Amino acid sequence: MRLALVGFGVVAQAFTKIIAERRQEILKRHGLNPRIVAVIDQGGYTVNPKGLVLERLLQDKASKSTVTEEQFKNHDLQAKISLVKEIEADVVVETTPTNLKDGQPGLSYLEKALAGKKHVITTNKGPLALSLPALMELAEYNGVELRFSGTVGGGTPILEFGKRCLVSDKLLSATGILNGTTNFILTRMEKDGMIFDEALAKAQKLGYAEADPSLDIDGFDTACKTVIIANWLFNRRVTLRDIKITGIRNVDLKQVKDANTKGRAVKLLGIVDSALKVEPKEVSRDDPLCVEDTLNAVKFQTEYAGEEIIIGRGAGGMETASAVLRDLIAIRERMAEEIMA
Ligand code: HSE
Repeated sequence: MRLALVGFGVVAQAFTKIIAERRQEILKRHGLNPRIVAVIDQGGYTVNPKGLVLERLLQDKASKSTVTEEQFKNHDLQAKISLVKEIEADVVVETTPTNLKDGQPGLSYLEKALAGKKHVITTNKGPLALSLPALMELAEYNGVELRFSGTVGGGTPILEFGKRCLVSDKLLSATGILNGTTNFILTRMEKDGMIFDEALAKAQKLGYAEADPSLDIDGFDTACKTVIIANWLFNRRVTLRDIKITGIRNVDLKQVKDANTKGRAVKLLGIVDSALKVEPKEVSRDDPLCVEDTLNAVKFQTEYAGEEIIIGRGAGGMETASAVLRDLIAIRERMAEEIMA
């Protein structure tokens, strides 16, 4: 299967490493032989229809900060976006940084790839939070898959759990701790008495926070994930504009300590029920949803099975790369079904 990678940051590099290390196993278990035929990064692009050498890509990125060779240096964004439509690839894997203002450049890459009838995998929350209903329509219209497992929960299969495992049930609501950075901050405030800024600095040092940490603290990252859950699992055609967002900027030590004395913890929750909102709320320590540090957890209320909870690490390069591979396997299964039909 021919892949074009758009963006070659932490997640794309981790994904490349997994393919390089597990090539035989992936072929044997899933009949999948991924061949990376193009990589676009900030320096330009590199293309080889026969397949790029994965180890070389990783080495070049480490030594030169770009995989682009001299003759392909190109800083013209439009040229790169056009390349995505024209390139002969089955799947485009888009992992450029999240931009919540207008979703760019990720949004244009996704639109071009889908319009070019390529299956798409993305870990980029911005375009989805702003335009998921339109992107889903575009994918359907062009008869291709748009998959984004890694946008919610990192490697933890929160979207698959709700979609596949609970397929026979009816989802009534979802309540989730969806942001590792804020959960870490709130946990350290509670356990170590750290002040907010100190806890944030530690979360940044550990590499969990977004490049602009206000996306975490002010609830936008949680809101993006809540919007994705609402669309994908609850068929709500909503965007970031439809969600009421309150972050944790004004949560102080006293509030955290007060909750603690009542056997509760303050958590930033993304909630999909009759409303759509993000807000800090007290959660009982006895509730399995009450996970600590950078863990994510989502509780689904279902009609028949009652409460179902999934917990796991919500961020990290390798974790998120495993979600990209999961999406790729799902696409491969669809392609195989279409050939058999
Ligand atoms: N900044 C995000 C978090 C990264 O802290 O959860 C994963 O989406």
